[in-house]
Amino acid sequence: MSESAIIIEDLVKKFEDVIAVDDVNLQVANGELFGLLGPNGAGKTTIINILCGLIKPTSGSAIIGGYDVQNEPMKVKELIGVCIQETAVYPYLTGAENVNLFGDLHVMDSETLKARRTMLFEKMGLTSEAKRRAGKYSGGMKRRLSLILALIHNPQIAFLDEPTVAMDPQSRHAVWDFIKDLKNEGKTIILTTHYMEEAEELCDRIGIIDHGKLIALGSPKVLISNNLVKNLEDVFIKLTGRKIREEV
Ligand SMILES: Nc1ncnc2c1ncn2[C@@H]1O[C@H](COP(=O)(O)OP(=O)(O)O)[C@@H](O)[C@H]1O
Ligand SMILES: [Mg+2]
Repeated sequence: MSESAIIIEDLVKKFEDVIAVDDVNLQVANGELFGLLGPNGAGKTTIINILCGLIKPTSGSAIIGGYDVQNEPMKVKELIGVCIQETAVYPYLTGAENVNLFGDLHVMDSETLKARRTMLFEKMGLTSEAKRRAGKYSGGMKRRLSLILALIHNPQIAFLDEPTVAMDPQSRHAVWDFIKDLKNEGKTIILTTHYMEEAEELCDRIGIIDHGKLIALGSPKVLISNNLVKNLEDVFIKLTGRKIREEV
């Protein structure tokens, strides 16, 4: 594996009349916990979807673990786990059945699958819910289940697109601990979030995206001191302004 887990070069994505990603260049090191921040519609999800091979870029390239996402998508898929922004679980299956299905798709052996399923349900506080249909879960529980589905195969690189959205503080703290554990295991993590305290506490480095462009890059400490403000939220507002963006 190359030294950088992720190398993004001159990445552009245009949708009809919108430039969603506007010439982004970025490298993420192996083992780094990288936060991708930006207002609604900034282009965060589009970048993640390109890195995961879910959509094609208009131009530019992305290399994940040494593999080009466009030329070697299957190699990339073996390395990554993705928790997409829209929560997707099978409502008629139980939590455990959802996980087993994903484990089978990854061709995991049943012993390993069972051990990881048990461990992840425990960490996500879902052990007592494992045999309930996922359709009956609360929004936060579905979100935690979708994190388990994303990571059941123990990927080296994880893309987590707003994993803590709409969670209560207890769930959010459980997910934070979980993300910290991933980091301690040496995993590379790309995280998007609108919770600035979350990014400030968890991330090694932050990239702020606005209108498809990377407008700031650095550790939370460096961004805060360079902008002469007291926290990351102030950095964010200073750089992206106060105008309200529409949800996309
Ligand atoms: N499939 C699509 N078709 C057309 N426009 C899209 C599509 N996906 C995203 N966009 C547009 O691209 C821009 C970036 O969206 P997105 O990456 O979802 O932003 P973020 O995740 O930062 O909120 C927005 O203007 C959005 O409307
Ligand atoms: Mg998004």
